[in-house]
Amino acid sequence: MSDRDDAPPIEEVDLLVTGIGELATPTGTLARAGASMGALSVSRGAAVACDGGRFVAVGAEHELTSRFRGREVLDAGGGLAIPGLVDSHTHPVFLGTREGEFEQRIGGRSYVEIAAAGGGIRSSLEGVRGSTEQLLLAALLPRLDRFLQLGTTTIEAKTGYGLTVADELKGLDVIAAANQAHAVELVATCLGAHDVPPEFNGRPEDWIEIVCEELWPAAATKAAFADVFTESHVFGLDASRRLMESAREHGLGIRMHVDQLTSLGGAELAAELGASSADHLEHVSEHGIAALADRGVQPVLCPLVPLFLGEAQEAPARRMIDAGCAPALSTDFNPGSCYCMSLFEVMSWAALRYRMSAAEALTGTTLNAACTLGLGHELGSVEVGKRADLVLTDLPNYSHLTYELGRNPVQKVIKGGAVVR
Ligand code: NIG
Ligand code: FE
Repeated sequence: MSDRDDAPPIEEVDLLVTGIGELATPTGTLARAGASMGALSVSRGAAVACDGGRFVAVGAEHELTSRFRGREVLDAGGGLAIPGLVDSHTHPVFLGTREGEFEQRIGGRSYVEIAAAGGGIRSSLEGVRGSTEQLLLAALLPRLDRFLQLGTTTIEAKTGYGLTVADELKGLDVIAAANQAHAVELVATCLGAHDVPPEFNGRPEDWIEIVCEELWPAAATKAAFADVFTESHVFGLDASRRLMESAREHGLGIRMHVDQLTSLGGAELAAELGASSADHLEHVSEHGIAALADRGVQPVLCPLVPLFLGEAQEAPARRMIDAGCAPALSTDFNPGSCYCMSLFEVMSWAALRYRMSAAEALTGTTLNAACTLGLGHELGSVEVGKRADLVLTDLPNYSHLTYELGRNPVQKVIKGGAVVR
């Protein structure tokens, strides 16, 4: 019996996080489009209760500490807390880096020139084809450590450097093994249409046939999504349509690399197909933006990529938001066009180059990113019922997310209610 009959009983929970100076989060389960992208819930002096891997209470610290006793209690130290970051576009399954190409680009060569000379995606094939699943996993796990250190608790992970049926499936098995072995959650995408493998030079339709008839059906049990590099030097519009329609018939969701290097009309195709995401979009047309907004197809923007590639054209993010799109922001982490895993860096560059507010940048790396993966009901915000993925930083307020450059502000990372960093 308690001293006072009206005192609520103290409830035990797995984890109570106290001392949150500021809690900033988007809200809801649906992607936030247009002006609503910049509307965060911001509270000072907050606490969060987690149980069974989910948030069970979010509110004022004095209120939560009188209601809950944590089996574990974590003091956030007065800093900013945000949802676990979601990177909705990465290519983390590879062996060997391509710093030589970076140097060449600094010297003036373009990404397409380097690819035409045998570099680019094709130069990463040997590493994957020549490696066992164990070796690829050993290369992937330290990358996941880095993602987690940087506050990223979920990534969309693409294959795409195998480009044989067996090597693409091997890449998907590596992603599945990493999912078991590591706290970072991976959502698998089969990018068997990343490039035409060199064995199919001059006959790309034969590779397309194999992807549609053999790879997609086999990948459908291992991946959530299929993806294609829609670009004039890789897969054109007709080939991309065939690839994506076939992927869908086999039960895969579809994501597409579109309008990255040229204005081919890939955004219009992604809109027509109702893709889960249309990624890159540096060269999207006004018509393409309208089509994406109209069909509610989410852009996934990669602000570090043109910077890394030395390309002048950047995605017209502001125009997309104004048109009513709900973009996500990603690193596009890969060995060729962006060797960076930090969504904090992405948020800063989205502010500087796209003129996105800190609030919009946070929505783009949390809720909107989760929604492109079909996980908006589970991830992307700090709200009762969602999975308890939380990042504690030493930042004083959410404006510092974009303001501070080049420093990792992450202090603690909680994934599914467990302190994992
Ligand atoms: O997203 N655009 C195609 N794929 C990657 C580049 C991959 C590579 O160069 O290895 C990208 O930028
Ligand atoms: Fe990519």
